[in-house]
Amino acid sequence: MEPTSIDALLNETRAFAPAETFTQQANLNDPAVYSEAAKDFEAFWAKAAEGLDWFQPWTKTLEWSPPYAQWFVGGKLNACYNCVDRHAKTWRRNKAALIWEGEPGDERVLTYGDLSRETQKFANVLKSMGVSKGDRVCIYMPLVPEVVIAMLACARIGAPHSVVFGGFSAESLQDRINDAQAKVLITADGGWRRGSVVPLKKNADDALKTCPSIEKVIVLDRMGIDYPVHMQSGRDVWWRDAMEQAALECPCEPMESEDLLYLLYTSGSTGKPKGIMHTTGGYMTQVNATTQWVFDLKEEDVYWCTADVGWVTGHSYLVYGPLSNGATCMVYEGAPDYPDRDRFWAMIEKYRATIFYTAPTAIRAFMKWGESHLQKHDLSSLRLLGSVGEPINPEAWMWYHQHVGGARCPIVDTWWQTETGAILISPLPGLTATKPGSATHALPGIFPEILDNDGQPLPLGKGGYLALTKPWPSMTRGLYGDPERFMQTYWSKYPGIYFTGDGARRDEDGYFWLMGRVDDVINVAGHRLSTMEVESALVDHPAVAEAAAIGKSHDLKGQAVAAFVIIREGFEMSDSLKDDLKEHVTKKIGAIARPDDIIFSADLPKTRSGKIMRRLLRDVAEGRALGDTTTLADPAVVQSLKDKYEGQED
Ligand code: WTA
Repeated sequence: MEPTSIDALLNETRAFAPAETFTQQANLNDPAVYSEAAKDFEAFWAKAAEGLDWFQPWTKTLEWSPPYAQWFVGGKLNACYNCVDRHAKTWRRNKAALIWEGEPGDERVLTYGDLSRETQKFANVLKSMGVSKGDRVCIYMPLVPEVVIAMLACARIGAPHSVVFGGFSAESLQDRINDAQAKVLITADGGWRRGSVVPLKKNADDALKTCPSIEKVIVLDRMGIDYPVHMQSGRDVWWRDAMEQAALECPCEPMESEDLLYLLYTSGSTGKPKGIMHTTGGYMTQVNATTQWVFDLKEEDVYWCTADVGWVTGHSYLVYGPLSNGATCMVYEGAPDYPDRDRFWAMIEKYRATIFYTAPTAIRAFMKWGESHLQKHDLSSLRLLGSVGEPINPEAWMWYHQHVGGARCPIVDTWWQTETGAILISPLPGLTATKPGSATHALPGIFPEILDNDGQPLPLGKGGYLALTKPWPSMTRGLYGDPERFMQTYWSKYPGIYFTGDGARRDEDGYFWLMGRVDDVINVAGHRLSTMEVESALVDHPAVAEAAAIGKSHDLKGQAVAAFVIIREGFEMSDSLKDDLKEHVTKKIGAIARPDDIIFSADLPKTRSGKIMRRLLRDVAEGRALGDTTTLADPAVVQSLKDKYEGQED
């Protein structure tokens, strides 16, 4: 698949207007919503906040002192109450909240009543371990119902959770636990991925060798008794044993609107991951409302977001958004090609899913695997499709539209970030004519601009930096323990304006086209990584003197990691060393960071001030003609790299 050129994108003329029948029934079907929000965005969001149950009303909608926003000041609420209790009190008590399948095929359905019971009991378990309001709890689990229970139980007692994706290494887990100074770790003996066991408890044990803040570890028995794990006495407790002792009732902690709900670590342009902070009132307001607007969620929908809870999509659109709306959510633990490449379609058919939200990288894989896998299944229950995580190329969009959506389902291409908490740019499915590859327009109440380097708004058609000029309720409240980096990363390029790190353009109809990151963040299969993280993992290997990592276009993953490596004297540039280095990065960070290519080189292209010119390395790795090399200290370096790379490509 050829990458689509920017010009081709901007000349995309295909447009898909919403079907009249869809518009008629849509949650939002009056275009006046945009102008109403623009007129008074505070009043607009205040109205949205009424979609939640508050223990105490707020007195001030917004307190804005850039870069810090406070929303719904003085209000009190609890996220778990909004996701569980308020539904369990009504007929929804016996409505399915989670329809779960494990990778091996095990099945469970939890109603809102079940969620209420389990969450209260588990909240009592946490309390019995000394967890109280404000204590951080780390969660490192497979995608099983208990991970949702654990998150909601934390929210219930006001203990911010920090979920670490189960695919991350022991060392990544350790960094995150130590940065958050978490008191308790919740994990499992293992999880299933493509038929193999992910050894979560073993990784956790390795991580915990130097995590002095952790007092207790709760271990879910996911694998069954045959899978041996080490339990450290006095520290480790089985989930099941702890739950047996737990009392049935646990009241919800009334949280201030601005109390911390969770931390979620994500990659930035330096090696150290940053703990994105989200608070309660604004975050819950926006995830609750956008789930209704963007996914057109209705009482009878069967909603499936395929993200893992280790990422923000899992937080906002698998847990807090849909559950606060009382939705029925499908959850699947494993890989889309296990046991066969039709697993997703089989699940859609079986549970009659109506809304399906996934990532372009998955769509491109499905495309490559071919339509025969879909044709075996009845997908006629679907009525809306979503995409998130990276730009979706028009070819993949069209394939999704035709083959998954049967040409009848609107597609919502949703742009947002861990930092934004909720979707900011997306079609409204009953109102927006979509164009393949465009995230279309800002949602009502959101104010993006495309700016040049000096902060001047650019005319339509011109590429620039995507920025947000007004605050929004679910915006991050900062980086845990690092206000300077927060200021520096997002608020220093344009004072008082949030800089996203993304490049974008608008076409002549004003549609937004996202162009990818403009910083040193790369997006591998929809997962954020920093080039420096990969570089630090590489230079940690004894054979490596210096390394430069880049994101290279990849037809399935969007980007793949390629690394240029200078090795130390005494080591040999061999294929086995390449494999060793790839393995080393996997061990240090996790499989998502594993480089596809390692390129040995004698030197790296640097500017006269010593900065590595990644743009040129990308040209080399992608086999393009070399761009401008005039600022290089030694222009011959890249040419020799290019000659060499073309000789050793594997
Ligand atoms: C990219 C994921 C284009 C973007 C929710 C952003 C997208 C980064 C889209 C955030 C989209 C996400 N179109 N690009 N629809 N959605 N991105 O924090 O570069 O994991 O800055 O949040 O993903 O990634 P994050």
